[in-house]
Amino acid sequence: MGALWWSVVLGFLALKSALFVDGGLTSNFVRKEEKTIDMPLDSDVFRTPPGYNAPQQVHITQGDHVGKAMIVSWVTMDEPGSNTVLYWSQNSKSKRKAEGMLTRYSYFNYTSGFIHHCNITNLKHDTKYYYMVGIGHTTRTFWFTTPPEVGPDAPYTFGLIGDLGQTYDSNITLTHYEMNPAKGQALLFVGDISYADNYPNHDNRRWDSWGRFAERSTAYQPWIWTAGNHELDFAPEIGEDETFKPYTHRFHVPYKSSGSTAPFWYSIKIASAHIIVLASYSAYGKYTPQYNWLQQELPKVNRTQTPWLIVLVHSPWYNSYNYHYMEGETMRVMFEPWFVKYKVDVVFAGHVHAYERSERISNIAYNIVNGICKPVKDQSAPVYITIGDGGNIEGIANNMTEPQPEYSAFREASFGHATFGIKNRTHAFYGWHRNQDGFAVTGDTMWFYNRYWHPEDEYTSV
Ligand SMILES: [Fe+2]
Repeated sequence: MGALWWSVVLGFLALKSALFVDGGLTSNFVRKEEKTIDMPLDSDVFRTPPGYNAPQQVHITQGDHVGKAMIVSWVTMDEPGSNTVLYWSQNSKSKRKAEGMLTRYSYFNYTSGFIHHCNITNLKHDTKYYYMVGIGHTTRTFWFTTPPEVGPDAPYTFGLIGDLGQTYDSNITLTHYEMNPAKGQALLFVGDISYADNYPNHDNRRWDSWGRFAERSTAYQPWIWTAGNHELDFAPEIGEDETFKPYTHRFHVPYKSSGSTAPFWYSIKIASAHIIVLASYSAYGKYTPQYNWLQQELPKVNRTQTPWLIVLVHSPWYNSYNYHYMEGETMRVMFEPWFVKYKVDVVFAGHVHAYERSERISNIAYNIVNGICKPVKDQSAPVYITIGDGGNIEGIANNMTEPQPEYSAFREASFGHATFGIKNRTHAFYGWHRNQDGFAVTGDTMWFYNRYWHPEDEYTSV
């Protein structure tokens, strides 16, 4: 009887796989219905560090194309203070010095603190460094570890968070990421940071509070930034018609080192991964700077050196929720044929405040007259993952298109984060963690097979 039962099960699985008859799984996990509200400004997570002109909102990001530089950013409130960063490696007690720059901005009736950015260069790979900011008044010391040298089998684990905000749920998401035993070494952030623009006149004090909230992670490991729509801060009705003003003053990225001409699209290499960051809210039509850049960038990706090709973009191309439905469609039409041609492993997006993972699918055959406009299974195509479930003030996206489309492998309306753990040139273990579970529990997992080195179907081979 056991054998018969198994043959029925296997037969069903074979049929399902062969015919691609239904969508994947819509999780039956039901999140408790409760409002997602911002933590008040006097919450302990927003506390200002003590001391005159103490640096706050400290965050770091990779400062070059290969992981031998780190941009350190911080804000001082009382006076400009020093732009200097003192730093030293774990094994050397002699301190070295790097000089940064200072900027600030006004937004309606708000004036920012003194925003410092300092790129520390010529670092050694795979080395723990301590760094000190606030020289001359109140100093604060943090540390980071540089990634290993770029190479095909360098293991590395990325965290993934999107649409974080600063609610009680955001705090849970960040804590779960910090406590996750998978131990992300750098965080790939897929856009929508503070949600300050949800407040009257885009109350920029909420940019400051977000910086203080996230510092417990952003000061210690690089967060790789993608611009979302909540970074636009475009409000001509109050005289603020310069897009991305708070974002570009507060967050510096190494866009020039990948030949980009704007901070919204760029690439970096970390360990065995080549990461391309795209901009949903900058022009991407033919002849635009972003289009030209991506066209030149993709042929430069050397899979012998960096087997894993990862793309970050805010607005998802494949999304079966009834939120932001098809907003990513125009960019998909422009770039999807390239992603298939160059065998992108995975595309991470945010924007939709829920979780979803796709099958490996593409939809590039349509030519206006042939009517071929349905996603099909494609082993050269990326997996698309929506990870916009950080837990911001706008709440969960829990309204899905029904039935679940065939291309959608798994979806669930819960807050959480994910990790992408590269083991070697062929295998990476991906796990999604919902906030209601224990830190080590995964709500969705997938072993990724590299599209260049091991382009097999993850579901039917090993
Ligand atoms: Fe968004």
